[in-house]
Amino acid sequence: MYRTHSCGELRASHIDTEVTLAGWVQKSRDKGFMIWVDLRDRYGITQLIFDEERTAADLMEKAKGLGREFVIQVKGKVIERQSKNPNIPTGDVEVLVSELTILNEAKLPPFTIEDETDGGEDLRMKYRYLDIRRNPVKESLLFRHKVAMEVRKYLSDQGFAEVETPYLIKSTPEGARDFVVPSRMNEGQFYALPQSPQTFKQLLMVGGMDKYFQIVKCFRDEDLRADRQPEFTQIDCEMAFVEQEDILNTFEGLTRHLLKEIKGIEVDKFPRMFYDDAMRLYGNDKPDIRFGMEFGELNAVAQHKDFNVFNSAELVVGIAVPGGASYTRKEIDKLIDWVKRPQVGAKGMVYVKCNEDGSYKSSVDKFYDQDDLAKWAEVTGAKEGDLICVLSGPTDKTRAQLSALRMELAERLGLRKSDEFAPLWVVDFPLLEWDEETERYHAMHHPFTSPKPEQIPLLETEPGNVKANAYDLVLNGNEIGGGSIRIHDKQVQALMFDYLGFTPEEAKAQFGFLMDAFEYGAPPHGGIAFGFDRLVAILGGQETIRDFIAFPKNNSGRDVMIDAPSPVDDEQLKELNIKLDI
Ligand code: AMO
Repeated sequence: MYRTHSCGELRASHIDTEVTLAGWVQKSRDKGFMIWVDLRDRYGITQLIFDEERTAADLMEKAKGLGREFVIQVKGKVIERQSKNPNIPTGDVEVLVSELTILNEAKLPPFTIEDETDGGEDLRMKYRYLDIRRNPVKESLLFRHKVAMEVRKYLSDQGFAEVETPYLIKSTPEGARDFVVPSRMNEGQFYALPQSPQTFKQLLMVGGMDKYFQIVKCFRDEDLRADRQPEFTQIDCEMAFVEQEDILNTFEGLTRHLLKEIKGIEVDKFPRMFYDDAMRLYGNDKPDIRFGMEFGELNAVAQHKDFNVFNSAELVVGIAVPGGASYTRKEIDKLIDWVKRPQVGAKGMVYVKCNEDGSYKSSVDKFYDQDDLAKWAEVTGAKEGDLICVLSGPTDKTRAQLSALRMELAERLGLRKSDEFAPLWVVDFPLLEWDEETERYHAMHHPFTSPKPEQIPLLETEPGNVKANAYDLVLNGNEIGGGSIRIHDKQVQALMFDYLGFTPEEAKAQFGFLMDAFEYGAPPHGGIAFGFDRLVAILGGQETIRDFIAFPKNNSGRDVMIDAPSPVDDEQLKELNIKLDI
């Protein structure tokens, strides 16, 4: 037996027990006549002791040779510690070693294996297996496991069956580029890795599976951010014979279960917000509603004077920053520089200080009097002591800019508290979205999403205004899930492909299998997919999903540990009939 106990297990009640432990040397302290070694495994740290009086001379010598991260096995007796360590659960005891086996020596690690390490991000990723030995990373992975178990438990209890779908498939349109895999046996042909199992889960509904889920890898070749990885995990779900309401209730149930089991938090019924309202009030389809600072549209109270910047703008919109009236001129100038950064892209910012004495001081006092500014304060909900920040320009862009400012200020003001959870359903998304580049409508969610049935005729006249039975689950300003009721009628699906610019031939080539299936009795169905990495990160109080993935990719999509992607040799390319012309 390699070990009788783990390194996190021994307590005062074990005193005088003979034990065998195995693990890694965290550190050792050599006082000459006495050596202490901290032995670490996944479960904790136990102090080992070797001392001249009680330990044989050759064992003493062997202990002196132990280096950091050596893998060892020890046998010994649990004894009471002279100076106890209240900071660790095993701190009352230590093990007086009688036998030491070095299972494996270790090179000096390139960074310290401690909670606060001296290793930078790149180094930690290159030696991720060492990083995983550190508590914060280890805890995050165990936390992820716990969430996955709760998801499986809850959904199974609700009658969902986990079914695996293939990874070597044909393109699924989720709006990103596909990763493709050449087929050796089918010359010149490629599989695509799934951006999601969307079409397969719909086929499972045609197959009568009724309630499906899968914790599944998805692959998307898109630009990476803190909350995006090229391969990520979804909790993918689909149900038959349901309406939107059934799906929202089921997955609200799942989220509530997770918040309760994982965080010990009970949340009331989740609020719902129309997409249009989310855009108007927060400039964003995933508003963080843990704090206020809602937008106030100021066109009516700001476009009656000679201030041309506002008069010529499609939208004039502001937010009230709590306590912002005390910002110095320099601080406000910095804020203006911040909104003018290319990443935000505003041309400038107008501000109004709402002084404690009830007066106003603005950057546009030349154009607006105190009565005007009082109206601005009313519309934005600004109180005495607040600062009103106002942006103007084309509606969509200006909303996005003010939303970025709102989130930045909330972060700086400490309003985005990681231990507070504010879930929200955003519903009634538009069906289509205009793409400037291709000058065409694209499906906002995906082409299988059902328009609101009563709005189908509007597709002819005002396609941009047609709403879909599509919804997102938002948690603390992050989109953690999205789904829709699907089209289950072949004609409507054909109509959608037509609006999206597919010729009948293209639609048949890409999605013929789905349209065929719809001819064999497709039930009404719908579903949702949660971004599992995002969900875990947010439940864990963070927004960077990399920290919750065992072996993540860096911002250029590289795995620096295994050095992928990398070239393949000519032989392999030849086999695949691929000629590189670089
Ligand atoms: P959608 O594209 O909205 O829907 O994806 C569902 C959820 O997956 C997460 N997500 C990601 N997480 C990490 N890295 C990425 N690159 C990434 N891309 C998406 C998000 C998102 O809300 N088939 C549909 C679902 C359905 O209609 O049932 C789909 O995939 O949290």
